[in-house]
This record gives sequence, structure tokens and C-alpha cells, in this order.
Amino acid sequence: MCGIVGYIGTKQAAPIILDGLSKLEYRGYDSAGMAVYDGVGKINITKSVGRLKILENITRDGETMPGVCGIGHTRWATHGVPSDTNAHPHFNEAETITVVHNGIIENYLQLRKMLTDRGYHFVSETDTEVLAHLLDYYYKGNPLEAVTKVLHRVEGSYALGILFADCPDQIFAARKDSPLIAGQNEDGCFIASDVPAILKYTRKVYYVDNQEVVRLRADHMHFYTVDEEETTKEPVFIDWDASAAEKAGYEHFMLKEMYEQPKTVTDTLLPRIKDNDIVIEELNMTDEEICGVSKIHIVACGSAYHAGVTGKYVIEGLARIPVEVDLASEFRYRDPILEEGAMVVVISQSGETADTLAALRESKKRGFQVLGIVNVVGSSIAREADNVMYTWAGPEIAVATTKAYSAQLIALYLLAVKFGRVRGKIEDMTYASLLGDLRCLPDQIELLLNNKNKIQRFANRYIGAKDVFFIGRGIDYAISLEGSLKLKEISYIHSEAYAAGELKHGTISLIEEGTLVAAVSTQPALYAKTISNMVEVKARGAFVLAVTCEENKEIEKAADYVIYIPETNPYFANSLAIIPLQLFGYYVAVGKGCDVDKPRNLAKSVTVE
Ligand code: G6P
Repeated sequence: MCGIVGYIGTKQAAPIILDGLSKLEYRGYDSAGMAVYDGVGKINITKSVGRLKILENITRDGETMPGVCGIGHTRWATHGVPSDTNAHPHFNEAETITVVHNGIIENYLQLRKMLTDRGYHFVSETDTEVLAHLLDYYYKGNPLEAVTKVLHRVEGSYALGILFADCPDQIFAARKDSPLIAGQNEDGCFIASDVPAILKYTRKVYYVDNQEVVRLRADHMHFYTVDEEETTKEPVFIDWDASAAEKAGYEHFMLKEMYEQPKTVTDTLLPRIKDNDIVIEELNMTDEEICGVSKIHIVACGSAYHAGVTGKYVIEGLARIPVEVDLASEFRYRDPILEEGAMVVVISQSGETADTLAALRESKKRGFQVLGIVNVVGSSIAREADNVMYTWAGPEIAVATTKAYSAQLIALYLLAVKFGRVRGKIEDMTYASLLGDLRCLPDQIELLLNNKNKIQRFANRYIGAKDVFFIGRGIDYAISLEGSLKLKEISYIHSEAYAAGELKHGTISLIEEGTLVAAVSTQPALYAKTISNMVEVKARGAFVLAVTCEENKEIEKAADYVIYIPETNPYFANSLAIIPLQLFGYYVAVGKGCDVDKPRNLAKSVTVE
């Protein structure tokens, strides 16, 4: 995810672009850059790794880049580490065509080869740079023609802003599957990835359609299809305020991020399924090496640790490899026994968690290869791990993780199924059905999210709760751990997760009349066992909320309130059962008036022990 802004008009462009980018930093903030036409034939480009603040300082808030036409970008690295060179804008060799891009050009390697064979030189590791050279290749004096020819050649997603030095009075823009809006006021025209970037200047906004091209001039803009046919478009007048807009209309980032989960799951999953086969190139492991793994150690903190606990059940079940899961803060000091053939997997959203990083270093020091499952590209863990499997969740702003956790689960499922298949534990039919179930997850998550009103009504009853217990067995215990954490970290209600069979060894004495017990039961083999535990707490006065699968109607006898999840393979049930529990925690916290996105005492990235 990156943010783009462009302006052409009668005012100085650079300050407007910098201001717009500052509203888009939630989309990424590892580097930033600007290109401004200087009015006398040259496009000036300034870019820098790091926060937007650095670009503001270098350009003295835009003063060093005079001109009334320009484009800018704030980056969240995907292809190539955050660096000055990989930052946008990218340009052709003569620096007469510059591009900012949000999205991923999927066939960039192929295009890069084609262009290299024709003598083009690449300076960055990005997918975006192919666009600058491809535009150069097709530009024969008609910029619109060059842009549409490029769009016909590229596969993937894009929102683009383009400057041609030959056409100083125009900006070109286009989009496919990445957001882009255009706007206009009496001083000029704008493009941006999101409304808040330009809301200070105009409320007259045009939503650019998929595969549509825009030509902006100082006083008007024209829209075209990818076949250069002009189209007409009606503006929309925005009537919401800027702070709400950054959350795209959602009340909190946490809610927005929960709603991004279908996309996050798709983005983490689909690029790794090719021709009905799981291909994880980043693993850099031959089938022989996969077969040689004798044990997997998963190490992480917080929710990433909870994802790891699920990973243990799924990997052991599907690949039949023993898995140990450790809290990173424990692992690093317990002198772990890492035997020959062991593989270490560290999981981290931020890639900066001090304990996880230390565990990684400890493992490497002992000569073990470390695989990182990481969300933030170019982060310390991503840089230091031997191999990195990225979770494509995009920037996560709410401190309580939701979408990054969901993406971590997907990465672990992919590893489990891949390893199981390579090691001969999963036969053809099961393999096809597992892949089919994985592919269904995004739509099923969407379905559960759309059920939010029911959960909100239920949550409102528990705003005054003192203690809540989450119980489950096997994978359901792992889900309970995360459901409990979501509730307590943002609502400040004490909650605990217990392996359902363990309750009677002490915890059951805490159950009083009306205590809420959330029972998670998604594993058919354990339905009856969990029902027994529900009956035990119900007999002691508990109010029992059950999260279970549609087929398990039997549970209604023991539960006071039931939330059903759609049918999936039991190994993947966490991805569905966690959705109502996230929503529950969220709505209890909202009902209590808590600062949901920034709970007290917590930090998103914990870089201290
Ligand atoms: C903090 C965050 C949690 C997160 C944990 C691990 O405690 O508040 O949401 O799960 O760190 O962070 P990581 O970035 O390593 O996944």
C-alpha cells in the first residue's frame, strides 16, 4: 500500500503535494518523493528513505521545488527494500517521464527483461520502474497513446500519476484495483489515493473507475477508457470531515482493518497458489530439504504467538512434523535445544519486536536457518531472517492487530499444506479440497463481518462485565487465546483463555451467576467434549456464548447464544471463528467509550524487552 498525490494549477505544487501526502502516511511511510515540473523544461525529482518529514526538511517544505505541476508518493515497500533509489517517483533514463505508482505490476519481470533486451537500464529493484521505461518505449509524441499502450501491457494493480516533460501543462493518471480519486477547485486539479489528501482544497471529487485514464490540466480534466475513448463523469460532493475520511468512513482504524481482512487473506494466499499448486518461492527450500525438516520451532510475541499456537496444530496435523511454539521472551533465555534438522520460524507483524528479533539472532548464532513471517517489508526481522515470507496485510494502524493476525494464519496454513504435500502426507483429493477451502476463506470472512450488528447487540450486554472466560480445545484453544486478548487489551475487561478440559482444575471456582463464558467449538472430533465443559459452567450459573460450525446444532442445548461460522476444513476454522470474537472485543470497547485504536499502556511495535 502506498499513497499518491498530484496537483496542477495556479498555486505552487510542492507544498500542496506534501500536505496531501501527510494525510496518506497511514498507507505507508518508509520513503517518500516528489517530481515537480520547473516551468522551463525540466522535471525536478527529490526522494528520500524514511518518513515524509525528511522529504519536507530536504525540500524546505517544498520551497526548493518551485513549479505549479507535480506528483508525489509515500511508499510502503513491496518490491525492493526502502531506499532512496527504490523510492518513487521513478523515471526514464532522460528523466523526461516520471511515474508514481500504488499497486503491484505482476508481470514486471517479463517486462523488465523485454526492456533490458532493448537496451533499457534499470536502477531500482521496484516493479514500478518498468512503467517509466515502458512509457518511454511507447511515447512517440502522444502521451495519452503511450499511457494506454502501457496499460494494455501491464498485469496487476495500479494507481498511477505520470508527468511528461514534453507536456508541462498536463498530468496523466490511471487506475486498476488500487484506489484513485481526482478533484477540482478554482485553482487547479488534483489526484490522490484517498479523499483526505485533498479535502482541505476541494470537496468536489471524481472517483476514477477501474481501467480509466485521466488527463488533468490546470482548469479541467478529461476521462478516457483504456482505448482512448473519452467518457463523461459526474463529481461527488464530499460532506464528511477529514479525520473521519482517513479511516475511509469507519469509526476506528480497528474496524476498518477488520473489514480489510478478506483482501488481506486474498493477497497473502492467491499469489502463492499457482496452477492449483502451492508455490512459496521465498522459502528457498528444495523438496528434499522440506522432507529433511525434523522439527519446527515457532517463536513470536502477542497475537503473532497465538497465530503460532494455531500453526502448531495445523502443521502437526497436516505435515506430521513436531512443532514447538515459544514466546520469544522465553525462548531467548531458555537455552533451547535445537537439534539437527530443526527449522526456526519467527512471526512478527512489525518485524521490529525486540524479543522476536533476539530469538532470531540467537537461532542464527547457533547455526540454524530462520524463516521470518513478517508484514513490514524491509523491517529488521525481514532483513535479518534467512528467508522471508511476507504477509500482505498492508500497514496496520490500530494497536490491536486483526488483519495482520489473519494474514499470519494464512501463511502458516500454506506452509502446513505445502510441507504435508511434499512429505507425502496429503493425497491428491485432499490437497485439492484443502486448496478449495483456502480459496473460500475471503468470502466467508466477508459474510461473518456482515453479521456485525448481531454481535454488536450482544456485546452491548457485556459492557459492565468484570471477568470473561474463553474456552476451547485444540485449535479452539488457540482461537480462545486470541479472542481473549482482543477483548482485554482494548476494553480493559479481565478475560482469560483456558483449554476447556482444564477448567475444572481450578478456574471453574471463578464462575459466578451471569459470568460470560465464550466457548469455541469448531473441531467436529471435539464437539461432544466441549459441550460437556459448557454444561459444567452453565450448571454453575455461567451465560454461555458458543462459536461453532453450522452443522453443530446439538450445541444449542448447552449454549445461551450461538454464533455459527460457515463450513470449512477444521484446520482453517480459526480464520472464521476469530471474526465474531474480534467484533465482540471491538464493540464492548466502543460501548465502554475506550480509545479503541490506542489502548492505554500498549504500543504497536515493541522494540524494548
Ligand atoms: C505488541 C502488539 C501486539 C502484537 C505484538 C507482537 O504487543 O500490541 O498486537 O501482537 O506486539 O508484535 P509483532 O509486530 O512482532 O507481531
